[in-house]
Amino acid sequence: MKKETFVTKEQLEEIVNKYPTPFHLYDEKGIRENVKALKEAFSWNKGYKEYFAIKATPNPFLINILQEYGCGCDCSSKTELMLAKAIGATGDDIMFSSNDTPMEEFQYAHELNAIINLDDITHIEFLEKAIGTLPKKISCRYNPGGLFKISNDIMDNPGDAKYGMTTEQIKEAFKILKSKGVEEFGIHAFLASNTVTNDYYPMLAKVLFETAVEIQKETGAHVTFINLSGGIGIPYRPDQESNDIRAIGEGVRKVYEEVLIPANMGDIAIYTELGRFMMGPYGCLVTRAIHEKHTHKEYIGVDACAVNLMRPAMYGAYHHITVMGKENKICDHKYDITGSLCENNDKFAIDRMLPEIEKGDLLVIHDTGAHGFSMGYNYNGKLKSAEILLKEDGSTALIRRAETPQDYFATFDCFDLYNKLVEE
Ligand SMILES: Cc1ncc(COP(=O)(O)O)c(C=O)c1O
Repeated sequence: MKKETFVTKEQLEEIVNKYPTPFHLYDEKGIRENVKALKEAFSWNKGYKEYFAIKATPNPFLINILQEYGCGCDCSSKTELMLAKAIGATGDDIMFSSNDTPMEEFQYAHELNAIINLDDITHIEFLEKAIGTLPKKISCRYNPGGLFKISNDIMDNPGDAKYGMTTEQIKEAFKILKSKGVEEFGIHAFLASNTVTNDYYPMLAKVLFETAVEIQKETGAHVTFINLSGGIGIPYRPDQESNDIRAIGEGVRKVYEEVLIPANMGDIAIYTELGRFMMGPYGCLVTRAIHEKHTHKEYIGVDACAVNLMRPAMYGAYHHITVMGKENKICDHKYDITGSLCENNDKFAIDRMLPEIEKGDLLVIHDTGAHGFSMGYNYNGKLKSAEILLKEDGSTALIRRAETPQDYFATFDCFDLYNKLVEE
């Protein structure tokens, strides 16, 4: 089955003349259309706000685009907070959803007036120690445990996840926080990842809305926002159907009207912390076939490797591959598409049926716009690629340069050896 690329072969040939492969390419038009659709889908909720999960795609130029539509930043570490600050986000524009959080990171989040989302009840005391007080507005992360199911399908296993507080703990946390002067409360949960169904958010919303009603009744805490976090997935496989964000927004609205309105809690703002849904389909990894190898299997070696995209090696994740210019050719060759790491799992595809690939062919690896570049590492001394933006007018802009050996050796710059390492 086919999956369309957002760039044509002709466009790509021009781009590779300017920027050497491999690189991640992002589609400005797609990003803009998608964020507009998301905002529209939740426009029924007055306080709605998307906090883009920076960890998915920590590129300031891409996050700037989302900021134009009023999106904030969901940060999970000090450097992500620094990035948010550098692009002008402060206060309620930043959600600090971290876990196992070092004290200095709480301090920095507080300095920026970010909304802090506590992962555990013990973090109340820890946060007080860190910042000497508690903020007036705070969020707590909830984990009801058990399996998260939609009909009979197991979506994920929150009972096995390290995140969030139990039902008893979150109630207790709200009581403690209220007694210590906190005035505004949020509830956050992330119970399933990469869900390709319109039912996930509405089901999660039901769990959270009912919990909010119960908590407000029991503790008197004023819940002002509910954060549905991330988890809306994308169709990585060509036979999967995309989520319909309008149907998802309507599904959440229905539950809101059923649960929150009758409880007189119709002033609650809905927040989301989407990453994959915001950027995933609007990025691809462009790479070139540089070797073919015929041994016990048929291999095509490309110039990208797991350093540029780790998901297949890490999770066995499927990423569709288009051989540019051969979109309509019969997929009658079975290949492993490999990178150059000394790791046998460095394969972008295993036993994939593709058209015949020749050395020099350009391959587009789809849906790398989220949790793609950002997961990269430097094993084997391999360097991370550039990121390029394909703008709405068809022109391109470099939005992150490729790493150089100097970057790789930079942490030796306090030693004399450094000069030897970086001399050409
Ligand atoms: C706390 C938190 N929020 C949001 C996200 C974004 O999730 P997704 O990219 O699946 O939407 C993540 C992803 O790991 C997360 O850990």
